[in-house]
Amino acid sequence: MQATDWSSYAAVYDMIQAYNPAYQDLVARFEAEVRGWSLPSGRPIVDVGAGTGVFSLGWARAFPDHPVVHVEPDPGMNAVAARKARAAGLGNVRIAARGVDDADVAPGSAAAVSCVHALYTFPDPPAALARLHAWLAPGGRAFLCDPGRPVDVWEWSRFLAGHLVRTVGPVGAARVFWRGRETWRQNRRIRRAQLDGTYWTHSPEAFRAAVEAADFEVERVETCFRGYSDLVVARRPLGGAGAGRQRPDRRGGTIAAGPTGCMRATR
Ligand SMILES: C[S@@+](CC[C@H](N)C(=O)[O-])C[C@H]1O[C@@H](n2cnc3c(N)ncnc32)[C@H](O)[C@@H]1O
Repeated sequence: MQATDWSSYAAVYDMIQAYNPAYQDLVARFEAEVRGWSLPSGRPIVDVGAGTGVFSLGWARAFPDHPVVHVEPDPGMNAVAARKARAAGLGNVRIAARGVDDADVAPGSAAAVSCVHALYTFPDPPAALARLHAWLAPGGRAFLCDPGRPVDVWEWSRFLAGHLVRTVGPVGAARVFWRGRETWRQNRRIRRAQLDGTYWTHSPEAFRAAVEAADFEVERVETCFRGYSDLVVARRPLGGAGAGRQRPDRRGGTIAAGPTGCMRATR
């Protein structure tokens, strides 16, 4: 069974996130972070699991001289992103209707990569991290943010309801909830997939360990999105060894390769 219907989610994703102060805070952190980056001009920037393009279009606005590759397999998400890129006149966004495994990015080519709230849904997050690392040019930068804790749908509903009643009043709040009702359906599916291990959950430490296991050099780790998500800012070192010494498992621990090459889970 497909855990999440991303196309159904795409229809309401931007609307609901526009009213979600935790998501707005994450977007603001992304913009504040990457605007300070000095990237070698002309090299591509790759956003994976790019959804409706909130972050890929953010890259395109911040770095108009770089091609931005929006890697996203879902047609509903891509239709929204393409419409927004056209409306904003952003000619430097290329939509790659692919998953992370078959995205066509030359190894060692990218100036920067990002993956926001998407890695946990991928079939093999450690392999995806290794792929992102391989796409980067030496010294390339990474903005990686992932929900580590299972989404508590009722807790989020109460939080958002309180915020909406304060900002748009009770009638406005009811309207937003009704228009965004697909969000709650998809978030319940996401929660089930997180609890049954289909989707990856992790602590900040395990997320950092996974990023380091893919041979990134971690610059900073933060929690965000009301404590649900872990944010790592990292880079591909200028020189370095091969990836894959320690792989995360899907429930927040890590799987370390022992001296014999056998895998063992740690919590
Ligand atoms: C919650 S959305 C996040 C979208 C966007 N990054 C954001 O934060 O607004 C997760 C996205 O990951 C995409 N996704 C799922 N599996 C994928 C895969 N194997 N490769 C690339 N993207 C994938 C989904 O289609 C969905 O659009």
